[in-house]
Amino acid sequence: MRAVVYTGKGGPEVVEVREVEDPSPSRGEVLVRVRAAGLNRADLLQRRGLYPPPRGTRADIPGLELAGEVVRCGEGVSAWKPGDRVMAIAAGEAQAELAVVHERMLLPVPPQLSWEDAGAVPEAFLTSHDALFTLGGMRPGWPVLVHAAGSGVSTAAIQLVKACGGTAIGTSRTADKLERARALGLDHGILVGREEPKFAERVRELTGGQGAPVVLDFVGASYLPENLAAVATGGRIVCIGTMGGVKGQLDMGLLLRARATVVGTVLRPRPLEEKIRATREFGRDALPLLASGRVKPVLDRALPIDQVREAHAQLEQNDSFGKVVLTA
Ligand SMILES: NC(=O)c1ccc[n+]([C@@H]2O[C@H](COP(=O)([O-])OP(=O)(O)OC[C@H]3O[C@@H](n4cnc5c(N)ncnc54)[C@H](OP(=O)(O)O)[C@@H]3O)[C@@H](O)[C@H]2O)c1
Repeated sequence: MRAVVYTGKGGPEVVEVREVEDPSPSRGEVLVRVRAAGLNRADLLQRRGLYPPPRGTRADIPGLELAGEVVRCGEGVSAWKPGDRVMAIAAGEAQAELAVVHERMLLPVPPQLSWEDAGAVPEAFLTSHDALFTLGGMRPGWPVLVHAAGSGVSTAAIQLVKACGGTAIGTSRTADKLERARALGLDHGILVGREEPKFAERVRELTGGQGAPVVLDFVGASYLPENLAAVATGGRIVCIGTMGGVKGQLDMGLLLRARATVVGTVLRPRPLEEKIRATREFGRDALPLLASGRVKPVLDRALPIDQVREAHAQLEQNDSFGKVVLTA
């Protein structure tokens, strides 16, 4: 099969498409003919050698999510058959023509979704669903602060907040992304400066002085003081990414007074059973919203796998709105 291969650690120059050996499904696993695989920031970090995949997964073939057709089922698989349209998050190796996935990690692709759209679903929607509901404790009608409002995960999160009857407050450093996010249901957009990011005062105004009970944060260190000033009493700041740095100063006095929780999350290194649980909960609660069209994948662009270097460059330049997907 053909696969994206990292020939070393470094910039886009180490990214190639090469012939590699086909994978084979073990007991309980399914071989999938990949049609579309989303690109993620984690792939860029992995390319630089900064985010190794879990043990047992090849570090030189990236790819954290996929959509495609079942080719063959390993022994003991009962839920799927050849030809089924499926999608999943993966520990790695998804940016290839073939990939192996545990049967319980697979979800059916709603019939109306194209391969490109389906490839944009798993990481963005599972991450945001898990962060909002499981980790953030989101309840119907709550206001939620979502940072980097044009990012793949945020564009999914905004729609899930709206589907839950909530108010979506989003930040971005790019005015155009806030404008585009309005079409997804964003209620209030806050344009944040690059030098001195400020948003807490506006969040307080928009929430009647209360603050946001859930904050979905992808930025990390540079937003930490404002996040703490923006979170509601008893609220939760869910840390999903660290695009603005990993080491920040936490005002413990403010944290205590807010009785707030700061919770971190990563999907990939979780044990299989935890990833299966997150997948099944998503399948139960949010997949019907995708199937009915109430929420939709947000695809910035789909590029053939041979243009993978271009796709890396686009993500790195913060150019995209929604997901960048590779088609195999
Ligand atoms: N924990 C997990 O399991 C998990 C899963 C998926 C993703 N993630 C992480 O979540 C984050 C978002 O992922 P994604 O795929 O949604 O991202 P994305 O689609 O690539 O979008 C990221 C956006 O964030 C904004 N941004 C970049 N650097 C920033 C900074 N220093 N300060 C403020 N904004 C910044 C940029 O938009 P503007 O500057 O134009 O606003 C950029 O377009 C990444 O860090 C990713 O690694 C974590």
